[in-house]
Amino acid sequence: MSHGAAAKPARARRSENLSGTVRIPGDKSISHRSFMFGGLASGETRITGLLEGEDVINTGKAMQAMGAKIRKEGDTWIIDGVGNGALLAPEAPLDFGNAGTGCRLTMGLVGVYDFDATFVGDASLTKRPMGRVLDPLRQMGVQVTAAAGDRLPVTLRGPKAANPITYRVPMASAQVKSAVLLAGLNTPGITTVIEPVMTRDHTEKMLAGFGANLTVETERDGTRVIRLEGQGRLKGQTIDVPGDPSSTAFPLVAALIVPGSDVTILNVLMNPTRTGLILTLQEMGAQIEVVNPRLAGGEDVADLRVRSSALKGVSVPEERAPSMIDEYPVLAVAAAFAEGETVMKGLEELRVKESDRLSAVAAGLTLNGVDCDEGETSLVVRGRPGGKGLGHASGAAVATHLDHRIAMSFLVMGLASEHPVTVDDATMIATSFPEFMAMMTGLGAKIEAP
Ligand code: S3P
Repeated sequence: MSHGAAAKPARARRSENLSGTVRIPGDKSISHRSFMFGGLASGETRITGLLEGEDVINTGKAMQAMGAKIRKEGDTWIIDGVGNGALLAPEAPLDFGNAGTGCRLTMGLVGVYDFDATFVGDASLTKRPMGRVLDPLRQMGVQVTAAAGDRLPVTLRGPKAANPITYRVPMASAQVKSAVLLAGLNTPGITTVIEPVMTRDHTEKMLAGFGANLTVETERDGTRVIRLEGQGRLKGQTIDVPGDPSSTAFPLVAALIVPGSDVTILNVLMNPTRTGLILTLQEMGAQIEVVNPRLAGGEDVADLRVRSSALKGVSVPEERAPSMIDEYPVLAVAAAFAEGETVMKGLEELRVKESDRLSAVAAGLTLNGVDCDEGETSLVVRGRPGGKGLGHASGAAVATHLDHRIAMSFLVMGLASEHPVTVDDATMIATSFPEFMAMMTGLGAKIEAP
């Protein structure tokens, strides 16, 4: 299966001594929001370090289709925004490809406008639940036409004036929180989002940076109450996007499990809502040195020096899941090389990512000789330090289900397994990390077409 182009399998083989210094491409979450908020704000937004993956480019195209002017000069993306409240009706369906974030956030951004906007995507996105965003939009007065089960294609039409709502987010989802807040931008009055479990806070931070009147109150039990005043002015900004911690996870875990490795990863976003994997790996005994921690554009950033480490299994606290939700596939791979058992719980959201990641990971691990148990919302992995017997000698391929993180995780696994690990398609890695193959082989990883 592929996301349009023909599927291209890839195979990773046991490697040694990964070494070098790399700079990870820009954070995907911040890159999407940079295009959206820049496209919406009045005046010019200048972005450096933007992730130029397919997902983010689709968000840029959607903003262009709604009136934003976007160009690139040298390394800088320059956006002339339309001004808050002034998006234009798109003439054709907005195609978000593989990207849940682009699609769901834009549904909030434009759904409350008094015109039709239609949303489509690839085979993976078309299977993903949109009701989590459509439900609050309906409460705001948006008319929704959707395929069965609130799936794509979806057409939204806003009312003359949307209702400001108070919405308690029912699952730990930054996309849902963000969609409601973005709908609130073009709604009179105060839109309130109650977030019982904190998720990545890029929308709140960045909207405040663009001049939105937004407050966050944290109650004693950790519940966050976010209030946004609608119809305010947003003003273009200068943004330098830090490196994506979710992409960092792949060379990082590779360096830990491949013997003799010493890799430095520069300019990694260290926002505490995103660093759960690093903390977990450190608890497992990983040698990850956080070098030169600093603030850049209001975000914590640091360089990471990572050396091969003997890992031990741990029990990952359930409440940590939101800060590492995209990293469980590659954590499961690290766990496959750890001594003892790693227990991961509270994984219900993994079932509705680009694929059902819980079953895709369990199937891939099992295919490659790892002892693991898939529960309804949990995964237990029993590791084999040294990777003896792991991998698949006759080259059976892991089914990636159009999921970039499944493909990258299993390619990392093959670098430390006794036998090679093959994935059925690597093309969709370009949605989030187009430089992955070149960066990994540059460090000494043996990855090739089978
Ligand atoms: C994202 C939120 C998360 C994450 C996704 C990016 C965002 O999704 O998995 O990759 O940028 O807001 P959920 O909101 O569905 O948890």
